Amino acid sequence: MSYEELLEKIQNFHAKICVVGLGQVGLPTALIYAKQGYKVYGYDINDSTINLLSQKKSPFEEEGIVKLISETIENNQFEPNTSLMECVEKSDVIIVCVATPIIDITPNLSFLKSASISLSELNLKGKLVIIESSIPPGTFKDFVIPIISKNISLGNDFWAAYAPERLSPSLALSEIQETPRIIGHEDEKSGILAKSLYQNMVHSEIFVTNSKVAELSKLVENSYRDVNIAFANEISLICEKYQIDFAELFKICNSHPRVNLHMAGPGVGGPCLPKDPYLLLNPTNGEKIESKLITESRKINDLMPLHISKLVTNALESQGKSLKNSTILILGVAYKGNVSDTRFSPSKEIIHDLQQKQCSVFVFDPLTDETFGAEKISNLDDEIIKKFDVLIIAVDHEEFRKIDPTTFQSMIKKPIIVDTKRIFDSKHIESLDMIYISVGYDGNSNLSN
Ligand SMILES: NC(=O)c1ccc[n+]([C@@H]2O[C@H](COP(=O)([O-])OP(=O)(O)OC[C@H]3O[C@@H](n4cnc5c(N)ncnc54)[C@H](O)[C@@H]3O)[C@@H](O)[C@H]2O)c1
Repeated sequence: MSYEELLEKIQNFHAKICVVGLGQVGLPTALIYAKQGYKVYGYDINDSTINLLSQKKSPFEEEGIVKLISETIENNQFEPNTSLMECVEKSDVIIVCVATPIIDITPNLSFLKSASISLSELNLKGKLVIIESSIPPGTFKDFVIPIISKNISLGNDFWAAYAPERLSPSLALSEIQETPRIIGHEDEKSGILAKSLYQNMVHSEIFVTNSKVAELSKLVENSYRDVNIAFANEISLICEKYQIDFAELFKICNSHPRVNLHMAGPGVGGPCLPKDPYLLLNPTNGEKIESKLITESRKINDLMPLHISKLVTNALESQGKSLKNSTILILGVAYKGNVSDTRFSPSKEIIHDLQQKQCSVFVFDPLTDETFGAEKISNLDDEIIKKFDVLIIAVDHEEFRKIDPTTFQSMIKKPIIVDTKRIFDSKHIESLDMIYISVGYDGNSNLSN
């Protein structure tokens, strides 16, 4: 197919799309393109994902996703398929959304490499290939393109662009369409084709630039957030030293027109923030870039779960309770509110540290079955609550916000609530004769002073 024919097919919604990798990014992308009127084939190396989708089930929690899977399969717009060859042969556009994790602090591009090799063995002539995965700078031009253009030439036989995804899980289906989009390319025609495709899906601005700027933009956005959260976390530790409440300071500082202090919390988890700063500092050419600010911020955020554990143990000790015999309930195992994803969840470190200190740790999370080795409880009945000494709120699921804190008054002796997400009002909890502790608020030491 010629460039002109492909452009027309994309503009008229006649182009067929194959999405490779149906995870948190790929599946919402496939479904939204299908909803917009494109025929979409979905391929994943994990057959159980394809099986679930074929039964109109979602492999993960996401607002509105099950309905959209059903609708798009029933009207024949979306077709999950176990054969990459069949999906690519039938498609004009291929969108790659495989994971790009880290091993320790080094980028692991093995999924992207294997997806690229699989594509290079198929006929990509006349097609547009888009990479959406977050990647270290230089990866599109110097890693992906050399693999997939083995026997064909970019800009002549086929076209390719880099379009990083910026969605937030739990808001994926709306954010894919509402958030401005970046298109990076190495030849102009690829940029035009990719922009035409995203224009038919995104109701927002589309920036077209070179591939390296696009790669950096994604990684800098997430590093920006990670550094700002680290600053807030560090300030919360300073608040504890001064025995003032971070929440009050946060409100007052943010009344300044040029200040945007982030909220402190139990640490940073999820599929992006804990690893994208490392992708930023490890370009594909093997060079190691130094940034004290970015690496220190990662360390600060990584240490927050241990700080939560320390707050818990301090509170227990000051109540004369032995760590060994105490029982702790953690609300939330997911990495953030209203998602089932547990990648890099701060709860994992909190659980392991408290278990090492010989506490009995229990978890309650209606969105995931993960326990990280703790014991799971299935509800918050009074009878169950009675046995806990400490309650840690590690995640702000909507369901937790609806809990009446008087539920916890039946906890043995004086209940200790460690509310890392500030879902309760500290003064209200204290008025109920419970100890309120948060990051940047040590109600235990306030009481003992
Ligand atoms: N999850 C997010 O919130 C988010 C947001 C923006 C960007 N990103 C980036 O998007 C990319 C994908 O992230 P994700 O969260 O969707 O990952 P994920 O782990 O949820 O999904 C990746 C999917 O790719 C599949 N896969 C792996 N190798 C494959 C192959 N060779 N062929 C076909 N399928 C293959 C896996 O089975 C999995 O289903 C990453 O680079 C991530 O950093 C993620």
